Amino acid sequence: MQKRCWNFLTKSRAELLFNKKEYKVAIISDIHANLTALEAVMDYIDRLGVDEIICLGDVVGKGAFPVETIDLCRNRCSETLLGNHEDFFLTDPDVDHYRWVKDIISEDQYAWLSERPVRKDLYISGRKIRLCHAGPENVHQRVYPKQEKSLKFDLFQPLEPGDRKPDVYGYGDVHYAYIEYFESAFTLFNCGSVGNSMELPQASFAILSGTLTEPSEEAWAIDDHEKASPFGIQFLRVPYNINKEIEATLASTMPERGRDIYLEEIRTGTWGKRWSRHS
Ligand SMILES: [Fe+2]
Repeated sequence: MQKRCWNFLTKSRAELLFNKKEYKVAIISDIHANLTALEAVMDYIDRLGVDEIICLGDVVGKGAFPVETIDLCRNRCSETLLGNHEDFFLTDPDVDHYRWVKDIISEDQYAWLSERPVRKDLYISGRKIRLCHAGPENVHQRVYPKQEKSLKFDLFQPLEPGDRKPDVYGYGDVHYAYIEYFESAFTLFNCGSVGNSMELPQASFAILSGTLTEPSEEAWAIDDHEKASPFGIQFLRVPYNINKEIEATLASTMPERGRDIYLEEIRTGTWGKRWSRHS
C-alpha cells in the first residue's frame, strides 16, 4: 500500500474551499471484516488520488478480520459511521459471532466502535450531502432499491426545525449500489458494499466529486448556476482475491456457525440463508 502521511485531507481545507480545487471523497461501506476486499479498495483509492475517505458503517460482522478492518478504517477514514452490525454487536452481543469479535478486538477498538455517529453532512458544489448507514436517525431503517419511491424520498426530510433538506442522500446497508432521482432535484444513491457485495462478487464503493462549499442554510436550486457547480457520483467495482479471503477465513478462529453461508455470499454475490438473527 502506498505510504502516505494520512491526516485525512490530502489538500488543505483552504485550498479546497477558497481556491475551488477539485475535491474527491470516496464513500465506502459494509466492509463486514473482509480484509482482502478492503485492502484492494484502499489500494485502488490510493491510485485514484482522492482527498478523503468516509465509511458508512458495518466495519465488522460476518467476516474473519474485525481487528484489521477496524484499524484500517480508523487510520484511513476521516469519518466512520455506526452500522446496524455495530449496533447489534454493542447492544445485543449474545450471538456466537459477536462474542468472538468482542474477545479478539481491543478495549480501545470497542470504545471507538461505540463512539461512531449515525450521520455526516458535507457540502459539495452547493449541494448538501447527507451520509448515513441506513436511515438518517436509525441504522436499522432498511431501504431496498425496489422499495416504493415515497419511502425512499422520506430519507430527505429535515430532522429538526432549521435543518436544510439534503439535496443528495447517500447510504449503505443493503449491499446494492444504485442511484435514483426525485422531483427533478434530489439524488439518492447507495455505494454498495466493500466486503459483502451483492449482484457482482466484487468490492463496491463510490466517489463524489466537485468543489467543497461552505454549509449554507439556503436551499440550493437546481437551476442556480452561480451556487452550484458540476457534481459527480461515480460507482466503482474492484475485483479482489476472493479465494485468498475464503482460505484465510477457514484458517481463522471465527466461529463455524454462519461461516459457510457468508463465504458463499462473497463468492457468488447472492444472499445465503439467514444464519443468525443478525444477518
Ligand atoms: Fe451490511
